[in-house]
Amino acid sequence: MKEKSIELLNKAVADELTAVHQYMYFHFHCDDQGYDLLANLFRRTAIEEMVHVERLAERILFLGGEVEMVVGDEVKKIHDVREMITLATEMEESSANDYNNWANECSANADSGSKKLFESLVEDEERHFDQFDDEMANLKKFGENYLALQSIERSKNIGGEAE
Ligand SMILES: [Fe+2]
Ligand SMILES: [Fe+2]
Repeated sequence: MKEKSIELLNKAVADELTAVHQYMYFHFHCDDQGYDLLANLFRRTAIEEMVHVERLAERILFLGGEVEMVVGDEVKKIHDVREMITLATEMEESSANDYNNWANECSANADSGSKKLFESLVEDEERHFDQFDDEMANLKKFGENYLALQSIERSKNIGGEAE
């Protein structure tokens, strides 16, 4: 019973580490292209995923397991903002889906602590999904203007500092 939970928790660690790497990569590239709002969203989300790693690791150690720290997928070198947000929403959706299933598995194995942890992560991943989904809606609604505005805001701020 414990072994199965530890295996699932380690799979989640791999998933979270993948998200940390991917979102930091997106953060660097949004920042480079001047899209401050999106750059900050990716950075904030990456930090939240890192906290997820920490919570999973604590649970693994509590159960007497080892935190494997295996990274799941390689970082996808995407520079197009729409493709970034598409991938991010897919990642969040699939995490929420996995964690729901794994919560059920832990429950079936009478491990309520791990079940609750997975359920709490589902809530966070669904919130992340919503945030990325909203960004996609903004992009569809306002198109290039939405991105241009983020760059203009940065220029204004830089101009302000020089005064
Ligand atoms: Fe997460
Ligand atoms: Fe997430």
